[in-house]
Amino acid sequence: MGRPTWEAAALLLVLSVSAASRPLHGIVATTESSFQNSEQSFGFNLTLAKTIVEYASAVYMTDLTELYTWTCSKCNDLIQGFEMRCLIVDVQSCLQAFVGVDHGLNSIIVSIRGTQENSVQNWIKDMLWKQVDLNYPNMPNAKVHTGFYSSYNNTLLRPVIANAVCKARKLYGHMSIIVTGHSMGGALASFCALDLAITHGGNNVYLMTFGQPRVGNTAFASYFTKYVPNTIRVTHEHDIVPHLPPYFFIFPHQTYHHFPREVCLTPA
Ligand SMILES: *[C@@H]1O[C@H](CO)[C@@H](O)[C@H](O)[C@H]1NC(C)=O
Ligand SMILES: *[C@@H]1O[C@H](CO)[C@@H](O)[C@H](O)[C@H]1NC(C)=O
Repeated sequence: MGRPTWEAAALLLVLSVSAASRPLHGIVATTESSFQNSEQSFGFNLTLAKTIVEYASAVYMTDLTELYTWTCSKCNDLIQGFEMRCLIVDVQSCLQAFVGVDHGLNSIIVSIRGTQENSVQNWIKDMLWKQVDLNYPNMPNAKVHTGFYSSYNNTLLRPVIANAVCKARKLYGHMSIIVTGHSMGGALASFCALDLAITHGGNNVYLMTFGQPRVGNTAFASYFTKYVPNTIRVTHEHDIVPHLPPYFFIFPHQTYHHFPREVCLTPA
């Protein structure tokens, strides 16, 4: 997909499944324990991670019909029985996300895609020279990356995801909420998880990101840990994204700091 031109009017699509009346066949209500096998954060579970990474990857689909109807090869092979609730496409900002329900996991899934990979390279170059500069609202001393935060806060992502999650929870009761994203999508997913945790309670929100760049300073990271204790950032030693922008030791309060829990997958 080419870069949208300035002339192009913002094309914003929000597709929502009308009140689903699907019966809840085959619900396995046993996943709570797999989320709660450690005090503070959910333990790393490779099986679960493999499912979640499929969601993080499916949101990259460019064929929106296949994505929306969950018929893409990526989607249907691995995660059958997923119920798409809302697909968000912001063409101008090059963002894409969906909210749906995984009945097997008894969870609401939120998956967010950042910009396409070539523009991620630009983001990285850009970030190399930028410090965190935006005060995160209501969290003294917490600073975050303006670009990532506005991509989440100042686009359709924030209100539409919040609304879709509320609706799904009304319909199905208090399901867990799993938020995921890869690369820049992981950065946006972090802000989303924080919002959802503040609204729905930190114990109900699980964040798993893949190759996520840093989003805020040390103070932000410690607020984050408090509000979203169930956080796992999956990194890959050959993936350059999580290591950028560089950590400036001289001004630790001004620079980026990762959330503490990190799982590094090494190639088999
Ligand atoms: C890991 O997650 C899978 C899928 O949610 C679940 O079936 C399994 O019991 C979990 N394993 C552990 C050790 O918690
Ligand atoms: C975040 O979004 C709200 C609501 O649209 C807006 O009032 C606020 O200024 C935004 N924050 C930033 C830092 O852009």
